[in-house]
Amino acid sequence: MSDTDYIKSLLKAHPNFPKKGIVFLDIFPILRDPVAFETLITHFVYHLTSKTIPALPAKKVDVVVGLDARGFLLGPIIAMRLGAAFVPVRKQGKLPGECVSASYEKEYGVDSFEMQADAIKPGQTVVVVDDLIATGGSAKAAGELVAKLGGKVVEYLFIIELTFLQAASKLDAPLYSIVQSD
Ligand code: ADE
Repeated sequence: MSDTDYIKSLLKAHPNFPKKGIVFLDIFPILRDPVAFETLITHFVYHLTSKTIPALPAKKVDVVVGLDARGFLLGPIIAMRLGAAFVPVRKQGKLPGECVSASYEKEYGVDSFEMQADAIKPGQTVVVVDDLIATGGSAKAAGELVAKLGGKVVEYLFIIELTFLQAASKLDAPLYSIVQSD
């Protein structure tokens, strides 16, 4: 079985969660299975260290940025395997010290993301990681935070992409997903 089929087979769909009409795709069954979790992380690391990213000729990622909250479960492991820094993007008001902020639209109203201002140095290469990309609003905001600090996003990485929401068109760097769902 391919990595993609293996990972896909472990995703659990929860209809009408957290509200009616949404089919929530749960990644936690992957994390419960050590072989599946290892396969997932190794898949991402192999992808990042192979020649598939045009903006990354030197194959060097300086920083892995993980999005609040499930990006925190993937990002640090990928960062350690790459020998890169891990930097969290958090909901407003959670991070100490000077921060940069960017707002994004949610289903109802607006929310704000923050990153510590000294977390990324100008010119550093960055990948942004989360479990799932839906509309792309939060990924785009994370990209804005990286840009404010002078970093360069070379790729946005997800386990799952909801392709019908066409998030890729909003982003300033390529999107990579293991499983596409429509
Ligand atoms: N975040 C946004 N949409 C989602 C979905 N359908 N499943 C899991 N997480 C999500």
